[in-house]
Amino acid sequence: MDKKNLSQLDKDLIWHPFTQMLDYRNEDPVIIERGAGIYLYDIENNKYIDGVSSLWVNVHGHNHPKLNQAITQQTEKIAHSTLLGLSNAPSIEFAEKLLQVTPDNLCKVFYSDSGSTSVEIALKIAFQYFQQIGQADKTKFISFSNAYHGDTIGAVGVGGMELFHSLYRPLLFETIQAPYPDTYHWESSVTEEECRDLCLQRLEELLKAHHHELAACILEPLVQGAAGMITAPAGFLKSVRQLCDQYNVLLILDEVATGFGRTGTLFACEQEQVQPDIMCAAKGITGGYLPLAVTLTTEKIFNGFLGAYEELKTFFHGHTYTGNPIACAVAIANLELFTEENTLANVNERSAQLRHELERFWELPALGDIRQCGLMTGIEIVQDRDSKTPFPLADKIPHQIVLAARKRGLIIRPLGPVMVFMPPLCMSESELSELCAITFEAIKEVTS
Ligand SMILES: Cc1ncc(COP(=O)(O)O)c(C=O)c1O
Repeated sequence: MDKKNLSQLDKDLIWHPFTQMLDYRNEDPVIIERGAGIYLYDIENNKYIDGVSSLWVNVHGHNHPKLNQAITQQTEKIAHSTLLGLSNAPSIEFAEKLLQVTPDNLCKVFYSDSGSTSVEIALKIAFQYFQQIGQADKTKFISFSNAYHGDTIGAVGVGGMELFHSLYRPLLFETIQAPYPDTYHWESSVTEEECRDLCLQRLEELLKAHHHELAACILEPLVQGAAGMITAPAGFLKSVRQLCDQYNVLLILDEVATGFGRTGTLFACEQEQVQPDIMCAAKGITGGYLPLAVTLTTEKIFNGFLGAYEELKTFFHGHTYTGNPIACAVAIANLELFTEENTLANVNERSAQLRHELERFWELPALGDIRQCGLMTGIEIVQDRDSKTPFPLADKIPHQIVLAARKRGLIIRPLGPVMVFMPPLCMSESELSELCAITFEAIKEVTS
């Protein structure tokens, strides 16, 4: 089908996520046909750098021979069979490999198919666990301001982003919200350490007052991604862990965005030597090939679900494609590539390069803040740097920057006023330089 027909059908038939369709239908859509390495190609053979790793999932590049082969080989055996009452080899083998590289205390893998479902599962496990060990009052959750854990109702319940979540409040269960140490947007001028300590103090007050009714605390470790790449001050994560232990509240770490190398370690929690009670992972788990997610737990939590069938301690939860063999086969190959291609070493080299290249962005008057953790990076665009005043929403500055970058061959996507870099982890030095140069020019063109 030619571009004109596809464009028209796209506009007529598809409701795109997180997209104002009135605007979308007035623009020429980019229709992607293929990928190679860090590049995407549209149906007219225009080439773009995939600056957001196809929504934070791609790891080793598009169309990677080893990942392709893992899928082909598995497809020749079986595409899908259920984990409800049966098992399959790839899901068992991947569970074993994954548990070798995740925190030592985690020893059980519950499969699902998206970041949101992995969070729903974590919440239900934490809730049910306390019901079954004789602490039935512990039913609530503590979460953080501006948190994002997905778009299903439970995940929205522990979310804290006004823009995405406030409309749905009437549908949600009650959650206690603690402030997140967002130094740049704090109401007064504070250092990172002051901001961290204020937040920890408030968290402790909330835990002291509510621990008897709290099942778990949920946190995105080191970086709040969707909130605009808000990096936490050093030591915050470790202190949250200590407070949760002190007040008998489970710690759920949502590594959906941070997991699989984005922050420079395979999982972000490694950087503060923190072991969660429950861990969620998805996105990069298959290198960006197929939907797969996991919720990992400790032996102690798992044991809380054991009993005679008639005690009804079973975890009555499961999705149709849970533990899909093709997704698990590619997840195994994805993990192997981390070793074979020395991926984390590249992430650390590229992160240092990126830090260096971003320094010149301060020449741009519209630059408000740069936040970086590994290759997860946010560049906040403001109308006035000193007062941190944002541009009027109606000016659609971030979207204009996206379009200016696109015409120069780069796909990026903003989060509110924040331009996000989340490149594939295999990116080379020259590719990263190109990404930075295009972004610089695009911001300059739109904001000067
Ligand atoms: C930290 C975090 N948790 C959960 C999710 C939801 O994942 P999914 O879109 O796969 O449902 C996301 C998605 O961006 C995320 O960043």
